[in-house]
Amino acid sequence: MSKIYRIAAIPGDGTGAEVLNEGRKVLDAAASKFGFRLDMAEFDFGGDRYLRTGEILPDTAVNELREFDAIYLGAIGHPDVKPGILEKGILLRLRFELDQYINLRPVRLYPGVETPLKDKGPDEVDFVVVRENTGGIYTGFGGISMKGTEHETAVQSMVYNRFQVERCLRYAFNYTRRHGKKARGKGTVNTLALVGKTNVLTHVFDLWERTFHEVGKSDYPDIEREYYHVDAACMWMVKNPEWFDVLVTGNMFGDIITDLGAITQGGMGIAAGGNINPEGVSMFEPIGGSTPKYTGMGIINPLASIAAGAMMLDTLGEYRAAEAIERAVMVVIGTKIENLGAGRMGYSTSEVGDLVVREL
Ligand code: IPM
Ligand code: MN
Repeated sequence: MSKIYRIAAIPGDGTGAEVLNEGRKVLDAAASKFGFRLDMAEFDFGGDRYLRTGEILPDTAVNELREFDAIYLGAIGHPDVKPGILEKGILLRLRFELDQYINLRPVRLYPGVETPLKDKGPDEVDFVVVRENTGGIYTGFGGISMKGTEHETAVQSMVYNRFQVERCLRYAFNYTRRHGKKARGKGTVNTLALVGKTNVLTHVFDLWERTFHEVGKSDYPDIEREYYHVDAACMWMVKNPEWFDVLVTGNMFGDIITDLGAITQGGMGIAAGGNINPEGVSMFEPIGGSTPKYTGMGIINPLASIAAGAMMLDTLGEYRAAEAIERAVMVVIGTKIENLGAGRMGYSTSEVGDLVVREL
C-alpha cells in the first residue's frame, strides 16, 4: 500500500486560494507519479472567516493541526482587517505554538529569470537563509506606557536564550552539511555565515556569536564559519551574492534580508519558505502575501506556492518527487513563461499549474 500523508491546507486570504490550488494540482500529480498519496483537509482560517464570525483561530485549531504531517498555506492578510491582527493571530501564532523554530528560505535564481542584479545569474544567486522563526523581537516582549501623552514610551525587546539560539544554529550547521555548496558539487567547502550586529546589539549577538563558534568548532569542524554584520550582508547580497552559501540569523534580520533575497531571485512570484519544526509539524508557504488587488483574476503567479509544495515533500522525505517538481518548475520558467509578474506571464494562474504538471 502506498504511503499516505495527511496535509492541512489553509488557503487563507486574497490570492492564497488560487495559488494553493495550483500547488495541490502539482502535488497530486507528483504523488501519483512517485507512488504516495496526499490526503488534504481544508481549513478556512483567514480574513473572511474573521469578518464573518469574529474568530481568528479557534482554540481547538492548533491541537487539530498537530495531528497532520504538514501544513500547506496560501497567504494571510485581508484588506478589510487592520494589519497585524491576522498576521499575529494566524501566521505567527501557528509558528509559535507549533514551535516552527526555523524559517528556511532558499534564494535561488532559476535560468531564464530576470534579476535586478547587474551581471549576475543562476551561478551567483544561489544561497539559503536559515531564519530563526520563534524568538527575537517577534516574541512581543515589551509594552507601551503613558499612551497618548508626550511621555509615551514604547518598548519591544529582542529576546533570545541559549536554547533557542543553539537549536537554530545546529539546524543551520546540519543543513549546511547536507545542502551546502560543496554538498551540491558547487565548490570545495560548505560555508555557514552568521548574520548579526555584534557591534551594536552587544548582548544578543554576543550570545549568537559565541554559541556559533563554540558549536561549530566542537561539532561541525568540516564547515567553514563566517560572520557578517547585517547591514554589510545586505550590501554583499547585492554586490557579491556568490560569496554566500548558507546564512543563519535571528528572526527580524532574517525577515528583512529574505525580502532582499527574494527580489534578487526574481521577486515574490518565485520565493518560497518553510516554517519548520524538525521534530513536529511544519508549514510551507509562498512568501509573497495575499496581493488583494489581483484576487480572483486568475493572473497571479503560482510558482512560489508550487515551490513551497516541493519543499514540503522534501521535508516529508519524498526527495525524488520534490526534485522532480523543482526541475519541472525550472523547465517551465526557462522555456515558457515570459515574466514572473502577475498578468505578465503569458498564461493564466491555472495554465501555469498545468504547464508544470505536463512537465512532470
Ligand atoms: C514573512 C512575513 C511575516 C513575518 C509577516 C506577515 C508577519 O513578512 O513571513 O516574512 O514578518 O514574518
Ligand atoms: Mn517578511
